[in-house]
Amino acid sequence: MIVESLRGRDLLTLQDLTRDEILGLLRLSAELKKDRRMYSGRLSGRSVAMIFEKPSTRTRISLDVAVAELGAHPIYLRFDELQLGRGETVADTARVLSRYVDLITARVRRHSDLVELARWSDKPVVNALSDLDHPLQTLADLLTIWEKLGRLEGIKIAWIGDGNNVCNSTLIGAAKLGIHVSIACPKGYEPDESYLKMARENALGSGSRIEVTEDPMKAAENADVIMTDTFVSMGMESEREERLRIFIPRYQVSERLFEVAKSNAIFMHPLPAKRGEEVSPEVIDGGRSVVWDQAENRLHTAKAVILSILG
Ligand code: CP
Ligand code: NVA
Repeated sequence: MIVESLRGRDLLTLQDLTRDEILGLLRLSAELKKDRRMYSGRLSGRSVAMIFEKPSTRTRISLDVAVAELGAHPIYLRFDELQLGRGETVADTARVLSRYVDLITARVRRHSDLVELARWSDKPVVNALSDLDHPLQTLADLLTIWEKLGRLEGIKIAWIGDGNNVCNSTLIGAAKLGIHVSIACPKGYEPDESYLKMARENALGSGSRIEVTEDPMKAAENADVIMTDTFVSMGMESEREERLRIFIPRYQVSERLFEVAKSNAIFMHPLPAKRGEEVSPEVIDGGRSVVWDQAENRLHTAKAVILSILG
């Protein structure tokens, strides 16, 4: 069922959604996955702008296919090919685009640009990744965990590595649903302070336990899910050497971490992955890895979000 309460709303972060709205989106995603043609053509005559200031494989294509399968028209817009790239303001771009399209999705370098876009757009805005947050990824991750483990509440996610955008949105989504999160990262690479605070507040209501440690073995202890992401996110290429020196080998996810996790623990990664950096080839290409299902689920969850927002 479409999540009616999301109609016309922005999705910049999962913090803006209730627990029931998140669960509603996951249920709808599961239905859409079972029947790829469900709601086919429902959004006929609508248009969705997709602004990308950074590269993308999964987000761009899953959004494009989701929009097309629902019958709407996806418009891929490279930031540097818009007048935005020549200095037209985000506010002016938002006001113009909202005269043409029904929904704007945007992948931006600065989260504040998304907030500005949403402020000036008359049409809903969806975050397709910012430096702070990646809500569409976390929805797909939650769907994957639910499929693989059969439940969400009470499970434990160990996040190993960089406390980045995906880590932030994982924290928020998990803490809304009563999932425990233990983050192992080097000092100075913790998740954003404001996201930790929001997650801890969410946890008071949901029963989640949120922990930050420097010790990957401690985080992985009894974990149901071990997650990681690149050590060098887009835009941080100049820090690459320093980061690899700090993160490798201690924070690389290898078989050794699974020895202390639950016996049926799974491995997750939003992709793209760098084998031999944040994860060993044995883990990502081994039997515990669910990364391809996770990537597939980007499509079904994107569809659920677009369908619910556009009704
Ligand atoms: N996981 C993810 O967002 O991948 P892309 O950068 O390829 O969109
Ligand atoms: N943290 C990564 C996620 C890519 C999907 C980045 O921002 O580059």
